[in-house]
Amino acid sequence: MNRLRHDGPLVVGGGLAGLSAALEAARAGAKVLVVTPEPLLNACSSAWAQGGMAAALTAADSPDLHARDTLAAGAGLVEAQAARALTDHGRETVEWLAGLGAPFDRAADGGFAVSLEAAHSVPRVARVGGDGAGRAILSAVVTAVRAEKTIQVWDDARLKGLLQDDSGRVVGATIARGDGRMIETTATCVILATGGAGGLYAATTTPATLKGEGMALAAMAGAEILDPEFVQFHPTAIDVGLDPAPLATEALRGEGARLVDGQGRFLLGETEDADLKPRDVVARAVHAARMEGRGAFLDARAAIGEAFPHEFPAVFAACMRSGLDPRVSPIPVMAACHYHMGGIAADADGRTTLPGLYAVGECAATGVHGANRLASNSLLEAAAFGRRAGQAAAKETGGGRARRAETAPDLPEAALAELRAAMTEKAGVIRDAEGLAALLALIDRLEAANGPAAALQAARLIVRGALDRRESRGGHYRADHPETAAEARHTRMRLRQPEILAAE
Ligand code: SIN
Repeated sequence: MNRLRHDGPLVVGGGLAGLSAALEAARAGAKVLVVTPEPLLNACSSAWAQGGMAAALTAADSPDLHARDTLAAGAGLVEAQAARALTDHGRETVEWLAGLGAPFDRAADGGFAVSLEAAHSVPRVARVGGDGAGRAILSAVVTAVRAEKTIQVWDDARLKGLLQDDSGRVVGATIARGDGRMIETTATCVILATGGAGGLYAATTTPATLKGEGMALAAMAGAEILDPEFVQFHPTAIDVGLDPAPLATEALRGEGARLVDGQGRFLLGETEDADLKPRDVVARAVHAARMEGRGAFLDARAAIGEAFPHEFPAVFAACMRSGLDPRVSPIPVMAACHYHMGGIAADADGRTTLPGLYAVGECAATGVHGANRLASNSLLEAAAFGRRAGQAAAKETGGGRARRAETAPDLPEAALAELRAAMTEKAGVIRDAEGLAALLALIDRLEAANGPAAALQAARLIVRGALDRRESRGGHYRADHPETAAEARHTRMRLRQPEILAAE
C-alpha cells in the first residue's frame, strides 16, 4: 500500500459537480486533487445530458415559480428551503458557466434561449446546440480546470474506500490507480461526486460504470443515506439493443413529438400536452405498452422531421448509427434508469452527516429532487451546489491520523450482469414485495459468493428502501401498494453507526 498526503480537498469524480467544486475550491486558495476513473469528459452522466440546465431566465419566470414546480414534481418530499436555495442560484449559475465559455443557445434579443420540458410551467431549460448541453457545458468547465495550476487530476483512479480517524471523521480515501497501485491518500476533506447508480440496471441511459459505489462506500463509513428507493426512469431511452441505451431527450416531446404504440395509437391520449405528464407517469405508460406487447415508439416525423439533424444532432446520430432514420420512422423506446434522486444525505454546501465528507451531484441527496426530479434540475444542482461545496471545502483543515481504511471488493462481470437484469425486472418501473424480497435474496447470495462489493451495497440500499416504502410516490411505484400515503416521509438509512468507530 502506498501513502500520500495531499494538503487540500480530494475530489472524487470528474463530472460537472466535482469539477465545479474543484474549480471553486482552487479559486478560494486550496490545492485540489481530482480523481476520476476515465479521462475528463468520458463516462460521466453530465457530459451526456441532452436537455440542458433549468433556471429562471425569462420575464415570465422567477426563482419562486421554479421552486414551486420543483416541489410539485417531487411528490411531497422536496425540502422547500433546498429547492429555493437551488432556484435562487439559477441565473447566477448559468451566467457563471457562460462566463467560462459554455455556448448557451441565445434568443434574438441576446438573452438565453429556453425550452419547455415536462412539469415545468414555463419554458426554462437553457440549451446548447439543440441537444448537446451536457458536453458543451462540461467542456467549458474542463478547460477552466485544466488552466488552474493548483488542480491536479488523476484520470485513471477509482475510489476503493474512505479513510477515517478515531472520531469517524473522513480524512482521505483509498484510491486504485490504473497501474495497479493502491494509494491511501489523506486530504483535508473528501468531496464525493461519483454520480448515480444507472450501472446497477440492465436498462440505463447513464454510463454503465456508475454503480452507486460512492453512496455505498459513504454508507459503509457511517454516512446517512436519504431516500435511496427513488430512482427516476426515463420513458424514452432508444431501444436499439445498446448498453447503455441512447437517450431521446424529453425536449423532443416539448417540440411536439408523440408517444404511440405499434398501431400508431397515442399512449397517453390525444391532447397536445398529454406526453409531457410527469416522467414517472409517462415511463409507466411506455412500460405498460411494452409489457402488453403493443410496443412503444416516439414519433417525431411530423414535429421535427427534416430539422432533426441540426435541431437534435445527438439523438439523430444515435438513431442513424443503429440504422434508424427518425425523419421517416418512429423511434422504438423503453423506460430505462436515468437518475438517482436518493443518495448520501447532504446540505446545499454538500456537507454530509460525517465530518470531513462532502457529497455533490447525483450521488448526493440534498432534498431538491424528492421522489421525482424535475427535468434539467440536475445540471443546475451539480454546478450550483458543487460550487458551494468547493467554497466550503476550501476552509477545511483536516483531521487526525487515518485509523480505519475499509475497502470493498469488485463484483465479477457475471455477478454484475445477474444483478443488473434482476434490478431492472424487480426494482424498476413497477415493484412489488415479492420481487423486491427475491432481489434481496439474490444480493445476499452474490455477497456470500463475492464479498461486500460496493455495487451490492448500493443495490441493497435501493432495494431495502423500496421494500420498506409501502406506498407509491414519484419514481417509486409499488403494484401491491398503488396508493400514495397521506403523509410524505423520508427514508433515512445507515449501514453502520459512526459513533462506534472510536470503540472498534
Ligand atoms: C432529457 O433531456 O430528457 C433529460 C433531461 C433530464 O433528465 O434532466
